[in-house]
Amino acid sequence: MPMPFAVLVSGGGSNLQSILDKIDAGLLDAEVRVVLSNKAGAFGLERARRRGIAAVVLPHTDFATRQDFDAEMIRVIHAHGVNADTGAVVLAGFMRMLTPEFLHAFAGRVVNIHPALLPSFAGTHGAADAAAYGVRLAGCSVHFVDEIMDHGPVIIQAAVPALPGEGGEALAARILKLEHCIYPQALAWLAQGRLTIAERHVHIRGAAPVSLGDESLPYLASPGLEPGFCPAAAQGS
Ligand code: GRF
Repeated sequence: MPMPFAVLVSGGGSNLQSILDKIDAGLLDAEVRVVLSNKAGAFGLERARRRGIAAVVLPHTDFATRQDFDAEMIRVIHAHGVNADTGAVVLAGFMRMLTPEFLHAFAGRVVNIHPALLPSFAGTHGAADAAAYGVRLAGCSVHFVDEIMDHGPVIIQAAVPALPGEGGEALAARILKLEHCIYPQALAWLAQGRLTIAERHVHIRGAAPVSLGDESLPYLASPGLEPGFCPAAAQGS
């Protein structure tokens, strides 16, 4: 049975789209049951509506406390058949910290993508911060979520070269392309029951150690992306 997902967005939802595309391609055995946003204008909601997926707006400013807001999110997510036993909560550009109560409700089943090689450049502007710092390698990380921002056990990371003179926006755009490869891949492993965690270390059953991109999309991913998750990887390069 496809794994039920609740996807939380605050913005454009390009990562949500990459997840939907990989579901359509038969690479990710999951079903997005509901897309939730704290921002009414988030384009991610529109992407959901276009596919007939429930799109729910919960403005956080309507709630007196963070706990109240998260309690309502838990209620809505459960009401759409997503729970910690069989489903997952997928953060895709969701710009709110989650309470311990929320994380407890979906223990071990909340994942996030971050546009930097954690633990470097945690926070809201990971890619721009990396560019401003002058790193030579940047990238993105998919991780389980714990109570500390951008901190939980890492599932997969991909590195890209940061080009001399490149601004934060250009670097973030190249990283975003890779996010669209590694996030569906990590979720596919989760949905296949291939992930186990021991003391922060995520073991992925049967994963290749690395995969490499090509000149059109240079990257190093660890563990390796499986065929179909990235154009370059699909070409076997
Ligand atoms: C991505 O860069 C993601 O890593 C970060 O927020 C951004 C969301 O982009 N957490 P989108 O809404 O998926 O296009």
